[in-house]
Parts: sequence; structure tokens; C-alpha cells
Amino acid sequence: MQQVLRGLKSLAGPFQSFVIAAAPEQPLPLFQEWLQAAIDAGIAEAHAMTLSTVDEQGMPDARVLILKNLDEQGWYFATTRRSPKSKQVEATHKAALTFYWQPLGRQVRIRGEVIAASAQVCQSDFQERPVGSRAGALLGRQSDVLLNEQELINGLAQQRQRVEHDPTLANPDWVVYRVEAHEVEFWQGDTERNHVRLRYRRTESTNTGWIKERLWP
Ligand SMILES: Cc1cc2nc3c(=O)[nH]c(=O)nc-3n(C[C@H](O)[C@H](O)[C@H](O)COP(=O)(O)O)c2cc1C
Repeated sequence: MQQVLRGLKSLAGPFQSFVIAAAPEQPLPLFQEWLQAAIDAGIAEAHAMTLSTVDEQGMPDARVLILKNLDEQGWYFATTRRSPKSKQVEATHKAALTFYWQPLGRQVRIRGEVIAASAQVCQSDFQERPVGSRAGALLGRQSDVLLNEQELINGLAQQRQRVEHDPTLANPDWVVYRVEAHEVEFWQGDTERNHVRLRYRRTESTNTGWIKERLWP
């Protein structure tokens, strides 16, 4: 396998150059620009990101999620409160998000506080989900050990019936979280490994609320 791995290319490019001098004073517009560039480049699931958390023992955990929204308040994702990731963020209120857009050689890393949205926002997000997703979320067993497939099939059918019977059915376990960033790093890969990295760090000392720092590759 080592030979196979060594034969694989990474960061082959060609990539655009990242002109740090032209970067905005806050990370949000730059993130929007990079996400839009990824969408325009036809990158599949450009809104997929890795959410990293730690559990109560300090053991790291990570999984891919979908970015549900983005605004001045932060980066949003949705899940069920009964999931391990939810328990982890409820315990620590901290997380990191990582985006990688391979054809563009771009990575964005975000670290910050995790804050749950109001019950109203969580419920309207739940209502917007397709019937099958709502039924699955109502089961509320995400990441439990599955011992009996029939239990899953029956449970899903039962929840689907509930949703179809009452399309306004609420799910108090459904939650939308936002990551309020303390740091956002934009990483533009370079084929010669002279990667260009710009980190925004939240601060009280500037009127924009952010300082920009260039990082060594
Ligand atoms: C492309 C992709 C998108 C996903 N989107 C979500 C999502 O938006 N919410 C979610 O709870 N799980 C999503 N998942 C599943 C998670 O990766 C994970 O398996 C699940 O949430 C259980 O994680 P946990 O045990 O750490 O709580 C997605 C997986 C993939 C591969």
C-alpha cells in the first residue's frame, strides 16, 4: 500500500494565486467568495465540511456534515441532540470546521464556540427537511449500536407514518448549531509547496474585530 500511496499525486494544480493584500478585513466575505468559487467550479458537495469535536475525556472525534447556512453570526449545521456530536458540543461548546476543495487546492479551517439556535429556528429547520429525513431524526438513535435491522425498518416506518399523518410534527431533539469563529484560516495550496496561508483572529483591538496574520507554509 505504501507504494500505491507514494504513486498518488497531491496538490498537482494548477491553482490560482491567493493575493493576501487584496483579502478583505473580515473572514466572512472571503469565505463566501471561496465557497462560491467551489460551487462555480462544479465541485460536488462544496458545502460538505468536517466537524471536529472532543468528548468529555478529551478524545477527538470528527465527521462530515453539511453546512446549512452562513452569516455574520457564524457557520451553521443541524443534527439530533441525541447524537454523540451534540453531546460533545453541549459539554465543551467548542468545535472546528474544515473545508477542502480539492480541484482548487483550497482548505479553510475554522475554530470557535458552538451555540444552539432558538427552539423556533431548530423547529423550522426540521420542518424543511424531507419526510424520510424527518422520520430518521424522530427515531433519535443516531450512532447507537444497531442489533436488530428489523427494529430499524419498523421504527422508520412508524416514524414516517407519524410525519405523514401530521406534517407539522415537531421534534424537540432537532437542533441547529452555529460555530462562532475565533479563528478562520484560508489555505491556498501551491504546486511548489509554497502554500499561501492567511489567518483571521478575533480581537478587541481593531474596529473590524479581526486581525489578519500570514502564516508560514
Ligand atoms: C456528505 C455527508 C453529509 C452529512 N451530513 C450530515 C448532517 O448534516 N447532519 C448529521 O447529523 N450527519 C450528517 N452526516 C453523517 C455524519 O457524518 C455522522 O455519521 C453522523 O452525524 C453521526 O455522527 P456522530 O456519531 O459523531 O454524532 C453526513 C455524512 C456525509 C458523508
